[in-house]
Amino acid sequence: MAIERTLSIIKPDATRRNLTGKINDKFETAGLSIIATRRLQLTKAQAEAFYAVHSHRPFFGDLVSFMISGPVVAQVLEGENAIMQNRDIMGATDPKKADAGTIRADFAESIEANSVHGSDSPEAAAQEISFFFAGIDITA
Ligand code: TYD
Repeated sequence: MAIERTLSIIKPDATRRNLTGKINDKFETAGLSIIATRRLQLTKAQAEAFYAVHSHRPFFGDLVSFMISGPVVAQVLEGENAIMQNRDIMGATDPKKADAGTIRADFAESIEANSVHGSDSPEAAAQEISFFFAGIDITA
């Protein structure tokens, strides 16, 4: 299986509750290495740009407001099959539907405040990594 990189975001509901370490433990226990990390406060324009694919969805405005409600931690995770593995570790978008032991089952507050983002394809991963880490040399 291929070694991949994926973009993860620990969302404001999780940073607010000091869950960064517990979430990172799930990544590392599953064999994903955290090879780059940045804690930042997104601007409204950045949140709108990051979630542009959802701009016509009814939840877009609330999602953007939530994503700028506190700091986020953007990270690059690396490992075998990292993109889909991270999606498995995260669990379903709606925490009520997430499998036991996943980040969202254990920590998410709601379908909106669901603690983590993870790229869903190789194309999205490349684009989302450059969104947060453009011009930064990432050496594993
Ligand atoms: P989506 O890309 O469908 O899910 P995922 O984060 O699992 O890839 O949606 C992006 C985010 O939009 C999701 O994490 C939370 C928010 N969202 C809502 O607030 N309400 C909704 O009904 C959906 C589908 C998503």
